[in-house]
Amino acid sequence: MKIGFLQTFPIFGKKTENLDNAILMMKELNANLVVLPELFNTGYQFTSKAEAVALAEMIPEGQTTRVLINLAKEKQLYIVAGLAERENEHCYNSAVLVGPHGFIGCYRKLHLFYNEKQWFEPGNGELAVYDIGQARIGIMICFDWFFPEVTRCLALKGADIICHPANLVLPYCPQAMITRCIENRVFAITANRIGTEKRSEEALSFIGTSQILGTRGEVLYRAASDQVESMAVEIDPNDARNKQITLVNHLFNDRRVKFFM
Ligand code: ACM
Repeated sequence: MKIGFLQTFPIFGKKTENLDNAILMMKELNANLVVLPELFNTGYQFTSKAEAVALAEMIPEGQTTRVLINLAKEKQLYIVAGLAERENEHCYNSAVLVGPHGFIGCYRKLHLFYNEKQWFEPGNGELAVYDIGQARIGIMICFDWFFPEVTRCLALKGADIICHPANLVLPYCPQAMITRCIENRVFAITANRIGTEKRSEEALSFIGTSQILGTRGEVLYRAASDQVESMAVEIDPNDARNKQITLVNHLFNDRRVKFFM
C-alpha cells in the first residue's frame, strides 16, 4: 500500500486556489492514501470567529468536500484533509475522510492550540478508526499529538496508520511523533504546511518537515522545512498488527492500567 502527504503553502482565504493546487498535486501523486494539512483550503490565522464561520463549510455538503470526493472516486484514492467545518453558528477545526465510494467520516480536533480557542469549538465526537480495506486508519489533528492519549486510544481501537493533518509552529512534533509510533507500533503520516502568516500583531511560521514514520519509529520520509512537496512510500500495514515487543512483552496486554489513575 502507498501512503503519502501533501506539504502545501496555502494563501489565507483563497479557498478556490488552495483547493485547486491540492487537487493538482494529488493528481500527480501515486498513492492509495494521502493526507493533507490542517485547514488546507483556508489557511490558519483567522482574526475572529466571524471570519472562521464565513470561510468554514458544511461537511460533507460543502464545496471542498465535494471536490475531494470527486477526485477520490476518479483516482480510487482515500484522502484525509483538514478544513474548517461550520455547523449552525459554530465552527470546528475538522478533518474529512473521503474515498472511492464517497464521504466516510469527519473528525473534530479535540485539543485546540492557542488562539484556535477563540475561533473554534473543541471537538465533541469520538476518536474513530476507519477500515479502508488495505488498512485501518485513525485521524488526529496537529496539537492532538501533545496528548499521547490520542494516539494510544486510536492504536487501542485498532488503527494501523495515524493520519495527522497539521499546521505546526512549535518545533517538537516531528521528533515526538517517532516516540508515538514506537510506543504504539503504528505508522504515522504528518502533513504540515510551510510559510508564514501575519494577519495580526503576531506572525506565525509553519515548520514544514511533513513526514511518514514506520512502526519502529523509522523516518521513511521527511520533507524540507520550506518546500511545497508531495511524497508517497510503500508500506505493509501488517507491520502495525503484531504488538509483541519481545516473546514475553506485549504492548497493550502488559499495561498496568490499574496503577494509572
Ligand atoms: C496546531 O495545533 N495547529 C499547532
